[in-house]
Amino acid sequence: MKDVMKVGIIGGGLMGREAASAFARWFVLENFPVRAELVAVCDLQDKLLDWFQQVPTVKLLTKDHRELLASPDVDVVYVAVPHNLHEALYLDVLAAGKDLLAEKPFGIDLAAATRIREAAAKSGRFVRCSSEFPFLPGAQRVIEVARSGKLGHLLEVRSCFWHSSDLDPTKAANWKRQVKFCGEIGVMGDLGMHVVHVPFRLGMNPVRTYAQLQKIYLERPDGKGGVAACDTWDNAMLHCDLEHEGRTVPMRLEMKRLAPGATNTWSIEILGTDGGARYSTAEPKSLWLFERQKEQRWTRIDLGFQTPFPTITGGIFEPGFPDCFLQMWAAYAAERAGSLGTRFGCVTPDEAVHSHQVFAAALESHRTRAAAVIGD
Ligand SMILES: NC(=O)c1ccc[n+]([C@@H]2O[C@H](COP(=O)([O-])OP(=O)(O)OC[C@H]3O[C@@H](n4cnc5c(N)ncnc54)[C@H](O)[C@@H]3O)[C@@H](O)[C@H]2O)c1
Repeated sequence: MKDVMKVGIIGGGLMGREAASAFARWFVLENFPVRAELVAVCDLQDKLLDWFQQVPTVKLLTKDHRELLASPDVDVVYVAVPHNLHEALYLDVLAAGKDLLAEKPFGIDLAAATRIREAAAKSGRFVRCSSEFPFLPGAQRVIEVARSGKLGHLLEVRSCFWHSSDLDPTKAANWKRQVKFCGEIGVMGDLGMHVVHVPFRLGMNPVRTYAQLQKIYLERPDGKGGVAACDTWDNAMLHCDLEHEGRTVPMRLEMKRLAPGATNTWSIEILGTDGGARYSTAEPKSLWLFERQKEQRWTRIDLGFQTPFPTITGGIFEPGFPDCFLQMWAAYAAERAGSLGTRFGCVTPDEAVHSHQVFAAALESHRTRAAAVIGD
């Protein structure tokens, strides 16, 4: 008999339903110690609660998250709501004695993230934050290269997450375009956890940043025939310094809603004098490895389905977003059950707070038009 991890979802929108789809195909994981089961869902919208009725294991559908948290059936809560609600809902989850997989950015700003981390530590509950791309086979290979000790002197690190649908000025505004819901950090709150997770886990912690932040369209259709103001940062380029083995190394973090042609493109590049690696979801099967021997060469490897948690999927098949999202949940469940081993884990509360320190420094840098020190 496997342990069962009974999950409740608060926020059944884009990501809440993605999580439901991950639990529904949990059986693809091979020899996995835990079975995940979605048992309860809370959302404010009837049409979304109706959608979840097709999930046979769901016993509770509610518009009141307190009702979900009162259910003794729920062990773990996934909260996927607008950023202005993160702190209050995460604290309620912890106060109810449940474990938490929090959606990024783990609170609307640094102060909120710090309070959530404190409450998580006091509660003793298992708390992690969402970031799924590192669980793709290509990302795992870049991590392996970075840890191999074969890079020589580290030259530079570049980590990017790009979207492009906002290039269309007729795209309607939603809560992600407004500071009161999304936060002053704007696109960094939306896309930033995805670009810092791997560098942070590799011990690449930036000490200062010079940030270039852009607001591009200041208003958009509101979807109801009117116009809505959009006041969040759309694109952010953070030019950072890392201290690595006694040297200062450049690291660039790029978070963009307006990156021409990039639908949901996550990429990472780590370059050294002797070796390096580059991976982008734009070419999901391609891993590029750099080697300096007598001659210098970039080698392209056609990747298969070598995910951190083995599955029944054929080893030559192509992974995508739903696969890495399932792998991230597997990492959460495995770590919670004490069986993560040496595998890559989900973002910790410390890493989430650290990401907010980077974003807070970026705001300061933009205000002063100078490099800002990233606090501890
Ligand atoms: N990991 C990823 O790749 C990824 C991708 C997109 C969004 N996100 C994050 O997920 C979170 C949600 O984003 P989304 O795109 O799913 O948004 P969404 O707008 O599609 O869904 C949010 C849902 O929360 C519900 N909601 C609002 N207030 C609520 C309340 N008090 N109680 C219960 N439900 C409530 C809304 O009705 C809505 O259905 C955000 O933190 C966002 O940054 C993560």
